[in-house]
Amino acid sequence: MKVFMMKFFSSIRPLAIAALGFFTLASGQALALEMGDAEAGDRIFRRCKACHATGEGAGNGVGPMLNGILCRPIGSVEDYRYSNPMQERAAEGGNWTVEALNDYLENPSEYLDGRSRMTLKLRKEEDRLNVIAFLAQLNADGTTLAAGEDVATCE
Ligand code: HEC
Repeated sequence: MKVFMMKFFSSIRPLAIAALGFFTLASGQALALEMGDAEAGDRIFRRCKACHATGEGAGNGVGPMLNGILCRPIGSVEDYRYSNPMQERAAEGGNWTVEALNDYLENPSEYLDGRSRMTLKLRKEEDRLNVIAFLAQLNADGTTLAAGEDVATCE
């Protein structure tokens, strides 16, 4: 019996490990990033304003205008000339989800796997999530979401 049990356990071990791997992966995916604090993000955004405009009638500066950036397709402002790595990423498709923005803002060039024209890095995740929460309140036309209106969710 003992021998049988040992055999049994050694044969299910790889399976158990595979299952464990699956569960960590699944729970990792379920752990979506929380939205930050938009008011604190407004203060962080002062550091972005040197290059980015928002609000009604906002145009491009050194960087593209950021109205409606949450869920906006990556590198998609038509009259803005993005860096080559950004153009390549845009061609792959995809939208600026909270997760993508969080990764990009931490280190734009690393995110693009090439040299982004944006050199500013936000090292602290709290700052990144706060500025994302601030940006998430801006509609595509530059108006701000009405109180109580939900921010967009996107893939
Ligand atoms: C010194 C100028 C500069 C500053 C400061 C700056 N950016 Fe940028 N940003 C850029 C440039 C230039 C690009 C275009 C990047 C490229 O083409 O590689 C860009 C691109 C972006 C994009 C992608 C836009 C798109 O259309 O896909 C986002 C999002 C962004 N910046 C957010 C921010 C935020 C948030 C901050 C402040 C925390 C910030 N940026 C600060 C210059 C700047």
